Amino acid sequence: MDGTAPPERRLTSRSIRSFVVRNGRTTAAQTDALERLLPQFGLPYSQTVIDLSAAFNRQAPTWLEIGFGNGDVLLELAERHPEVNVLGAEVHASGIGHALIGIESRSLSNVRLIHHDAMEVLEHMLEPGSVDRILLLFPDPWPKKRHRKRRIVQPDFLSGVARILQPGGVLHCATDWAEYGEWMLEHLEADDRFANSAGPGKASPRPDWRPVTRFEQRGRRLGHSVTDLLYTRC
Ligand SMILES: C[S@@+](CC[C@H](N)C(=O)[O-])C[C@H]1O[C@@H](n2cnc3c(N)ncnc32)[C@H](O)[C@@H]1O
Repeated sequence: MDGTAPPERRLTSRSIRSFVVRNGRTTAAQTDALERLLPQFGLPYSQTVIDLSAAFNRQAPTWLEIGFGNGDVLLELAERHPEVNVLGAEVHASGIGHALIGIESRSLSNVRLIHHDAMEVLEHMLEPGSVDRILLLFPDPWPKKRHRKRRIVQPDFLSGVARILQPGGVLHCATDWAEYGEWMLEHLEADDRFANSAGPGKASPRPDWRPVTRFEQRGRRLGHSVTDLLYTRC
């Protein structure tokens, strides 16, 4: 022992690799949207905290959707809630392109997209207590036992969520993979920074206001039941 403190454990994408980088093809329309609209509606990933009110040109409650896929839910919520700043983080360019096309066709001004690993966004880019609601809808379930370390819901992720959620803010997770639902419940119940809105150990009824996602539809077709979990930041 030389008396120096151990290096601080860093929360980087290396700690949870919850996605596979695909050489995803984008359609011509998505490529066009990425070139034309990303400068306007995208927020470049930053290793330093950004000013959300400058990014949205106004001060308003902020919701964050992590892994928004093609963005249908993100845009639906933004349209229904013009009073909210809606932020989305997604790693796949095709999803970003798809969402940009929707932002333009719906004339939305309250959406911003981050094309980057949400783990790093949680760690570096967002100010502590700056977000009112976080949605994690149908994250990849990584069903094989050897892949469970890739599940995004685990202590490092929850630390990032706890950091940026303001007290009273809500983390909303949903999954159609029953065993991942139990896993989420176990991790969240064990974390005293969050209180279960449905009461200890319980899943919440599916909130009417939550739009059906593409992966949820797929799960329903396969006969899967859906678990919604809502936790408040203490
Ligand atoms: C199973 S899909 C669900 C998409 C959408 N939420 C839905 O329900 O239709 C999971 C999505 O999360 C994205 N994703 C996974 N890990 C991520 C991360 N660390 N940061 C950002 N996006 C991520 C994937 O690219 C994928 O689009």
